[in-house]
Amino acid sequence: MKIDYLKNHKNMIPILAKWNYSEWGHKTKLDLQDIEKKYEQTALTKQIPSTFVALINRTIVGMASLLAHDCKAEPTLTPWLAALYVDKDYRKQGIGKALVQKALSEAKKLNISILYLQTEEKNLNFYQELGWKMYKKTIWQKEEIIIMSFTIF
Ligand SMILES: CC(C)(COP(=O)(O)OP(=O)(O)OC[C@H]1O[C@@H](n2cnc3c(N)ncnc32)[C@H](O)[C@@H]1OP(=O)(O)O)[C@@H](O)C(=O)NCCC(=O)NCCS
Repeated sequence: MKIDYLKNHKNMIPILAKWNYSEWGHKTKLDLQDIEKKYEQTALTKQIPSTFVALINRTIVGMASLLAHDCKAEPTLTPWLAALYVDKDYRKQGIGKALVQKALSEAKKLNISILYLQTEEKNLNFYQELGWKMYKKTIWQKEEIIIMSFTIF
């Protein structure tokens, strides 16, 4: 498995958009075309925003993004680890963990001292085991959001 910038695999954007839409479309209210456009804009390297993809041979198996903003409830916090996703057939093999670690190491290279993410209760253990701390719980549009932070330095 290797992790590379989406910029080097832009033909895969429709797959990322489909994953994003299926997992978060009901919340973001964006359609597939809008999501594809967003991925076009984050197909950059060594900066915020950027998106990474996990690959096994030539198959894309996961994704994660570093974004300036990813939480309407907390517009002053920045930057964010966003849209972490591993294909269902490839979960529980350490790919999610590798994507989180890649995002953290990239953030460190960019001199970012704290990274944030928003998640739900079901993923709390996953992130806590990777060293993320609970930052706050908040309510946005009647749903509870958990915000976590990782202090890089
Ligand atoms: C959350 C998500 C990214 C995790 O991806 P993953 O690749 O399965 O994660 P990992 O394999 O690195 O770790 C997940 C679990 O598998 C375990 N694991 C890791 N390697 C393993 C292996 N070789 N064999 C068995 N289990 C393993 C980890 O210990 C971890 O355990 P936990 O479930 O008790 O926390 C994935 O479930 C996903 O895409 N979910 C839907 C989208 C989502 O919720 N994203 C997060 C938004 S904040």
